[in-house]
Amino acid sequence: MSNPAFQRMANVDGLITPAEEAKISIFDRGFLYGDSVYEVFRTYSGVGLFFEEHFDRLENSARLIHMPMTQSRDELVEEIRRTIRATGLSASAQDTPSGQDVYVRYHITRGAGPVDLNPDPQLKTSYVILAKEVPTWKAEYYSHGMRLAIPQVRRNPIGALNPNIKGGNYLNNILALHEAVELGADDCAILNREGLVTEASNSNLFFVIGGQLVTPGDGAGNLRGITKTAIRKACDTNGLKVEEKDLHVSELPKATECFVTSATREVMPVVSLRLEDGKILEFPAGGGEITRQTAKYYHQYVEQYVQEHADFKLV
Ligand code: PDD
Repeated sequence: MSNPAFQRMANVDGLITPAEEAKISIFDRGFLYGDSVYEVFRTYSGVGLFFEEHFDRLENSARLIHMPMTQSRDELVEEIRRTIRATGLSASAQDTPSGQDVYVRYHITRGAGPVDLNPDPQLKTSYVILAKEVPTWKAEYYSHGMRLAIPQVRRNPIGALNPNIKGGNYLNNILALHEAVELGADDCAILNREGLVTEASNSNLFFVIGGQLVTPGDGAGNLRGITKTAIRKACDTNGLKVEEKDLHVSELPKATECFVTSATREVMPVVSLRLEDGKILEFPAGGGEITRQTAKYYHQYVEQYVQEHADFKLV
């Protein structure tokens, strides 16, 4: 049961308010141009999952868009803590639908300045932190699975806007998702211009092909998911090999299982995939054996991480 004391909170450059009351400048380049980077993580038993890895990826995204960050990592960590504390969440209570846990999204924008594409090098980066309840996905996405469709929209080429930048402009993903939803699906499986599989709108894709767990490599153009990396390690520990490679759409009819991964979805089974010609590939409802094994290994890995980082509670 959610506790009425819990309140979604936001922190804009140090000013913490209820999330609905938070304000940013209309001159902020994140708003004007999507000139920003961000991360999303969630806590488990109050511990920020893969906290360091998210900061590493944030800093890499900032580097890839040539945006030196004004705020230090320590400062942002402290601000994240303050924001979570302001939600009223307490380590002992079952305050949110997911217990004592919280979803945290933090954006760093290039800052507010003149309406001019060319950024003033004197600009100071701004930050926005949002702490809210962990999203509850439809139960049927886990019990049955998500339905995906391949849209005509292609993933941004690496040489244009590298999908490995977790930036504040998600229009490519939104257009792909919109098309998939119009086709009656829940999410998309986006191809690149060479017909290689990249990722879903905000999660990574895995398939089982010929009994082997396969996920598209970085070369196709996708975000290097932190969940995906953890899954590789978790599977490795359990002797289940994960192959990262280019995966052409023509290979998909051989797939026997499919699932997506992200910080908030964890391991979510896919029950069907619509190809561009309208043909629908079907996968076991609720996830096949390898999908279910992977989910189990991932949950064990998370449990171990939480135990090992018990002294780093954010709540
Ligand atoms: N999305 N690909 C894209 C395009 C993403 O936006 C995400 C994450 C992922 C999976 O990354 P990770 O395993 O590190 O969560 C892949 C987050 C959850 C979001 O924007 O809400």
